Amino acid sequence: MGKLHIVGGGAIGTLFAASAQTNGVPYDCYPRDMKTMPSYAQWLDGQSIGLKPAKPTPVELAKTDVLILPLKVYQLKAALLQWLPYLTQQPTVVLLHNGMGGLETAKELLGCDYPLLLATTSHGALKVKASTGDVYVQYTGVGATQIGAPDFGTGTPQTLTALSASAPQLANAIAMLDTALPPVQYQDDILKALWTKLSVNAVINPLTALHNIQNKYIADTEFEQSRNAICDEFTQVANACGLEFDAQTVHKNVLSVAKATGENFSSMHQDVAHGRQTEIDAINGYIVEMAKKKGIHVPTNTLLVERVKALKL
Ligand code: PAF
Repeated sequence: MGKLHIVGGGAIGTLFAASAQTNGVPYDCYPRDMKTMPSYAQWLDGQSIGLKPAKPTPVELAKTDVLILPLKVYQLKAALLQWLPYLTQQPTVVLLHNGMGGLETAKELLGCDYPLLLATTSHGALKVKASTGDVYVQYTGVGATQIGAPDFGTGTPQTLTALSASAPQLANAIAMLDTALPPVQYQDDILKALWTKLSVNAVINPLTALHNIQNKYIADTEFEQSRNAICDEFTQVANACGLEFDAQTVHKNVLSVAKATGENFSSMHQDVAHGRQTEIDAINGYIVEMAKKKGIHVPTNTLLVERVKALKL
């Protein structure tokens, strides 16, 4: 088996590291800032696991290795540029972020034929600073990771077994991730899965950030009009981009995620609360950008982008 290389010291990356360590998958972490790299992770039952020391700089990777980038999409370009000289053997690269735009960045830097996987996860994890000053990651909710290859076009293998036959390197990378932090589910239509997640983030993230609320309050009637408008605009844009969605199903799914993650504060809420740059450009901003290309009017998403950007960070 190759090694799992995890870029960044974020909550989801650290969760992958802690789980890889538990499940015997060799791994290394490469945080941007060694000082804020969590030193341990705490599971749902309160037990913790200490993490091995992180690496300060990239190393040359083997073809059987997997490089996963659980980063904010705006951090992706710099990270890929830093790793590029170490990817001469073409190990599998996995993008894992909220919002859209990462695929375009990766293709521009790695080329269109690079062995690439896109992923989205519903595992919940939070980076916490303990009273002792130690930074750790708390696992807040069991989820699943959806993963797939973006570039097969009409000939996309429909199952993991079929993928093993046509692209064994990608299938092995998925098997490694599934051993590290299960379940990792192969999706033959990963773009649809990513757009589905985009619809969830487009409603929950800006509204929770602007109104300073937990995810569950998104279901309140005061947000019904906004929810419907965002879902309608999203559906028009997605359909124009060739993805089949209907606004009612999109809305129903948003409500069910808001309920399932009800006690959480969304990532955008947390970014605003901690004065960090948000992912609004990659979420509602992406819908606005695609809408412009397709000549669709999306006033609600446009306003949300403006309002989130106007927040004092
Ligand atoms: O960005 C987030 O916080 C999450 O993707 C989600 C699903 C909205 C849950 O909080």
